[in-house]
Amino acid sequence: MKKYRFEYFASCPVGIEGLLTQELLEIGVKTATATRGGVQFEAFHEIALKVILYSRLASRVFKFLYQFEVVNEKDYYLEATEIKWKSLMDVHHTFRLTTIFGDLPREREEFRNSQFATLKLKDAIVDWFRHYEKERPSVAKDYPDVSFLARIDRGQEKPYLVTLLYDLCGDPLNQRGYRISKTEAPVKENLAAALLKIVGWNPREENLLDGMCGSGTIAIEAALMAGNIPPSFLKVDRYLKNVNFKLWTFQNYPWLTKDEHLQENFTLLLKGVLAETEKGIAELRKRPGQIVANDLSEMCVGAAKDNARKARLDEIIEFTQLDARETYPAGSKALFICNPPYGERLDPGDDERLRNLYKGLGDHWKHNFKGHRAALFTGNLEMLKAVGLKTSKRHILHNGDIECRLAEYKFY
Ligand SMILES: C[S@@+](CC[C@H](N)C(=O)[O-])C[C@H]1O[C@@H](n2cnc3c(N)ncnc32)[C@H](O)[C@@H]1O
Repeated sequence: MKKYRFEYFASCPVGIEGLLTQELLEIGVKTATATRGGVQFEAFHEIALKVILYSRLASRVFKFLYQFEVVNEKDYYLEATEIKWKSLMDVHHTFRLTTIFGDLPREREEFRNSQFATLKLKDAIVDWFRHYEKERPSVAKDYPDVSFLARIDRGQEKPYLVTLLYDLCGDPLNQRGYRISKTEAPVKENLAAALLKIVGWNPREENLLDGMCGSGTIAIEAALMAGNIPPSFLKVDRYLKNVNFKLWTFQNYPWLTKDEHLQENFTLLLKGVLAETEKGIAELRKRPGQIVANDLSEMCVGAAKDNARKARLDEIIEFTQLDARETYPAGSKALFICNPPYGERLDPGDDERLRNLYKGLGDHWKHNFKGHRAALFTGNLEMLKAVGLKTSKRHILHNGDIECRLAEYKFY
C-alpha cells in the first residue's frame, strides 16, 4: 500500500486547468500537473492551506492518502481494513464517502457500481473501529465532519487501482459566502474569476462594465481581484468570530489537529487574510466607479447590490439598471464583459428576442466601443454568431454540463 505525504489535487471547472496550474505555482506549490477537471500538485502542508484560502479558481482541494491495487470488491474491503483509520478520523466524527470511477477495465463485473464500492469501504471503516475501538462512527450525507473520496481506476498488477483522498474543504471553495440573494442562471464564483483572468483584465489599466450582471458575480470577483482580497475573506471573518464553528472539514483531521506547527501556520494565515482584506478594501475605496454592474432587471440589480453589500463592496461597485445596449464605456479604456441569457435556462424558445439581443450587442459595441474591448460568455453557439463581429480570441469552457464559449472582441 502506497502512503502519500505531500500530494494534493485541486479540482476546477473544465477548461481552466492551465490557469489553475499557474495560480497554484504562484501560491507556492512545488510541482503542478494539469489533468481534465483539475490539477495534481505537490506542496508543504502550509502551502496546501494557503491554496484553500487564496485560490480563486479551485473548486475543492483534496489530499492524497493511500493507493493500493485490488482484485475485486471483497479484496477492496480486506485491503481497506489494513488502513489505520484512527490516524485519519476520530470515532466520534461523522463521515461521508464518495466513489468515482476513472479509467476501468472493460470487463468490470468485479466492481458493480460506485454505490456498492462505497458500501464496501464504509463497512471496512466501521468494522475497523468496532474491532479496535469497540465503537463505530456514523455516516452523514450532509455536513459530515470527515469527507473521503475514493477513485477507482484500472490497475497494473491487479485489475483495480484505488486511490483514497481527503476532501479538505467540505463546502466548495467557490461558495465564498457573499451570494445571499440569488438570481437565475448565475455563474460559479471561480468560473467568473477565471473569465477575468482568461481575458487578462488588468484593473490598473482598464475599467470594467458587466452589462448583464445578474447576481453580480463577475463584478464582485473583479473587485476582489482588483483589491487583492483573498477569496476566503468572508469565511475567515466568520470563523474568527466563532472559532468553535468549523468551516472547513480539514479542521477535524489529525492532519491539522495533531500538527502544532501547521496549526500555528493556519492561525497566521487567517490573520494575513484579514489584514489583506482591510488593506484591499481601503485601497478600492480610493478608486470608486472603476467597476460597474448593470442589468435590465430591477430584481437582479437589487440582488447584485445585496451580494456586494455582503462582500463589503457596495460602495466600490457602481450599479445601473439599463438595457445593456444603452451602457457606455467609462474612462479611456474599458472592458465590457457579459454573460447574456443562453436560452437554456432563461427565455426558452424565445429565439428571436435572443437573436436581437446578441446582434444588438454587436452593433452597439461596433458603434460605441472604439478603443475598448468586450468579452461575451455564452453556452449558445448559434446566438454567438448573431453578434456578427470578428472575435480576437475564443475559449472553450464548461459551465456545469454546458459547453460554453468565451469570445473576445477588440474595437479599433
Ligand atoms: C445568465 S444571466 C447573468 C448571470 C450572472 N453572470 C451571474 O453570475 O449572476 C443573464 C442576465 O442578463 C440580464 N439581461 C437580459 N437582457 C438584458 C438586457 N437587454 N440588458 C441588460 N441585461 C439583460 C438578465 O436579467 C439576467 O440577469
